[in-house]
Amino acid sequence: MRVEHPAASDRVTQARQRYVARGVSTPRLVVDRAEGATIWDADGREYLDFGGGIACQNLGHRPAGVVRAIHEQADRYLHQCFMVGTYEPYVEVCRRLSELWPGSSPTKSLLVNSGAEAVENAVKIARVATGRSGVVVFDHAFHGRTNLTMAMTSKVVPYKQGFGPFAPDVYRAPGPYPYRGVSSDDALRGLELLFKQDVDPQSVACVVLEPVQGEGGFIPMPDDYVPRLKELCERHGILYVDDEVQSGTGRTGTVWGIEHYGVEPDLLVSGKSIGGGLPLAGVTGKAELVDAVPPGGLGGTFGGNPLACAAACVVLDEVGSDGFRARAEQVAALLRGRLDELAGRFPAVGEVRGLGAMLALEFVDPEPDLARAVTVEALGRGLIMLSCGIYGNVIRLLPPLAATDDELERGLDLLEEALGAATAGRDAGA
Ligand SMILES: Cc1ncc(COP(=O)(O)O)c(C=O)c1O
Repeated sequence: MRVEHPAASDRVTQARQRYVARGVSTPRLVVDRAEGATIWDADGREYLDFGGGIACQNLGHRPAGVVRAIHEQADRYLHQCFMVGTYEPYVEVCRRLSELWPGSSPTKSLLVNSGAEAVENAVKIARVATGRSGVVVFDHAFHGRTNLTMAMTSKVVPYKQGFGPFAPDVYRAPGPYPYRGVSSDDALRGLELLFKQDVDPQSVACVVLEPVQGEGGFIPMPDDYVPRLKELCERHGILYVDDEVQSGTGRTGTVWGIEHYGVEPDLLVSGKSIGGGLPLAGVTGKAELVDAVPPGGLGGTFGGNPLACAAACVVLDEVGSDGFRARAEQVAALLRGRLDELAGRFPAVGEVRGLGAMLALEFVDPEPDLARAVTVEALGRGLIMLSCGIYGNVIRLLPPLAATDDELERGLDLLEEALGAATAGRDAGA
């Protein structure tokens, strides 16, 4: 174990408290370096990473091909701005996104820097293409922290409290959540009611939905819901925007989560893992919709940065391969097996759910304390875990899909210990 400075973590933490905004929350972890599924902190302690920088490391930290591509690109040029000079890595990412499109329509793409920026651009495109302004989102949605996406996101604390006024013409419909008693039928009835009470469907440009809601609690949409929602959209001329920022880039086994539902969206938003650790996001959509916006209407100084595009080409080639999918399915089976076992032994666990390797466990109690305690206990044992959910009571698993069985088993052992410690006194694990 390499110890560079006995109190290196404390030193950085103190400086962080002095100079960095309090509003950016951080755990007690100061990162020194990372490789694959492992992170080392500034004092040389080793951690298994089941958080992936919030779903950005589906391929693990510093995948060799990604690092090589970034180095090669760094030796040529770092920034260009696509609006000043065309460069091939940007075009190549868009070509790959077109090849990986979950449907048969010809598509085009726009590249930006973050998931929120991509969602905003998807809405801009949908509005121009339809000539309508309304946006329908769903309970438990997370679409970002910018002004428009804040309005689209469904959790008040900490994402919205005090930050209003919010962007207008955003409407929220119920989202299916079978564990808490909301079925596909309930959700669709709620949407029909929204169209009666709050907004004329003829003035709605798009619905925006995550196939597996991420920050909202790793809630996979029921099998029948996505096709039924798409059919309802088609009836009213509403575009279907598929937000794959967290569920995409191979996390569920298929490249995009929506592939599990057999529905072709109109627009698809990608982000997070697509850049292999660099900031990149995209909007891909049916070509005639994307091209409804005239030249100059879309873009941004850094959107589709060459380094991020070079990385993304490698990532997309990898997640689109049969080998990657086969491994993702193995990882999913291994994780699911152990989580089901834990659910059987810890009465505090109400449900294990997810799609592919996008898996989580929700505690029965709709309070954040236990999930918080589990993540703290896990970190103390060398496992980075994240919670999520409207109630903050969901533990989500986002290990790299390139992790070995041994790493996954070790992480799950640590999760089991953390669960045992956090629930001791509440309910004793058997
Ligand atoms: C589904 C979804 N959409 C959009 C976003 C916003 O992405 P970013 O944080 O890159 O702006 C997130 C981030 O967690 C997300 O999970």
